[in-house]
Amino acid sequence: MSSRGRTSARLEHLSESWIREMTRVALECGAVNLSQGYPDFDPPPEVREAAAKAVLEGPNQYAVTWGLAELREAIAENLKSRYTPAFDWLDPDLHITITCGVTEGIVAALMAIAEPGDEVIIIEPAHENYTPAVRFAGAEPVYMPLLPPRYELDIERLRAAITPRSKAVILNTPHNPSGRVLNREELLGVAELCIEHDLVAVTDEIYDRILYDGREHIPLATLPGMDERTITVGGLSKTFAITGWRLGFFVAREPWATGTRTVHDFTTICAPTPLQAAGAAAYSLGEDFYARQLEDYHARRDLMMEILAETGFTTGGTPEGAYYIMAGYEDWNHPGESNDFALWLAREVGVAVVGGSHFYNTPGLGERQVRFAFAKKLETLEEARARLLAGIKARG
Ligand SMILES: Cc1ncc(COP(=O)(O)O)c(C=O)c1O
Repeated sequence: MSSRGRTSARLEHLSESWIREMTRVALECGAVNLSQGYPDFDPPPEVREAAAKAVLEGPNQYAVTWGLAELREAIAENLKSRYTPAFDWLDPDLHITITCGVTEGIVAALMAIAEPGDEVIIIEPAHENYTPAVRFAGAEPVYMPLLPPRYELDIERLRAAITPRSKAVILNTPHNPSGRVLNREELLGVAELCIEHDLVAVTDEIYDRILYDGREHIPLATLPGMDERTITVGGLSKTFAITGWRLGFFVAREPWATGTRTVHDFTTICAPTPLQAAGAAAYSLGEDFYARQLEDYHARRDLMMEILAETGFTTGGTPEGAYYIMAGYEDWNHPGESNDFALWLAREVGVAVVGGSHFYNTPGLGERQVRFAFAKKLETLEEARARLLAGIKARG
């Protein structure tokens, strides 16, 4: 075939997102959708009203490329007050850029940091977007697995993944899909390696407000020596149940602050302006909103655990953060690998989940496991319970 009829080499190893594909399958066959990580409940009414007002009254035109000042200021204030004094250096005019979601933030960060010849370490199981982001930058992904059942970060294994070509590491906590929240000791280990080997850390902290049993989230940038070598990527999608609004941000010092802004500028110009205005309103909701939301998430998590135990799924522990769990399906007596099982479960039992292998690139890992997403109404989870109970009963 002539080169005219061929897509670029950077797309060679990439395929469609299986998470989004499972949502398509769920819609097609009427399955309860526990595959893609989005809420089936509404965002807070104040936030929706703020969006409607902003669309009616403006702003409706391009925002300054790094984002509406009120939203950047709200994010800066939020980080400064939660992690005093670690983010005192943060100037919202210089160090924060509003992106079209964490997805864009990660791509912009990688495009700013990495180039052909570089390696970027991806800690897996990992969100599907990290590998494409590394490939778009022309760099090589190197995979470092966290192993079930505990998914602890083994610092010696991370050290072994570092080579003279290593440029950056992507770190996600609270973690999708395992539900782990990395503790201070694990994060200090990562920080030490980044400093020793001059690596940049790109952190995905999109679940920083969804933590269970009193756990605390520790941004890597708050650890000694890490603010200058961390691009902290965060988002509003999960915190305010607005995954369709496409709002995220990155926080970085120079040279990464300007570098990532340049990529953002020439790919999107800006995130949707009226929704940025509503995003600023979301940050004024106050601590009681977060407390109530956490209570609701605890109820969802506990119900999910109960359902899994009752319907023949095995787990290595209870999620510490985020809203996912990986579960084994041995008791279902299904011979298929994880993707076959997920497709069968959606079509024959009516519950859509994601095959565990899609979160790993290391061959053999994630097999015989599927991921459940439980950011759903309790009645949605109850419907899943009824279908799963009927399904496992039919398997004898
Ligand atoms: C770890 C992680 N990062 C990023 C995203 C996507 O975030 P956004 O909606 O801000 O692009 C998700 C969505 O499920 C996620 O789980």
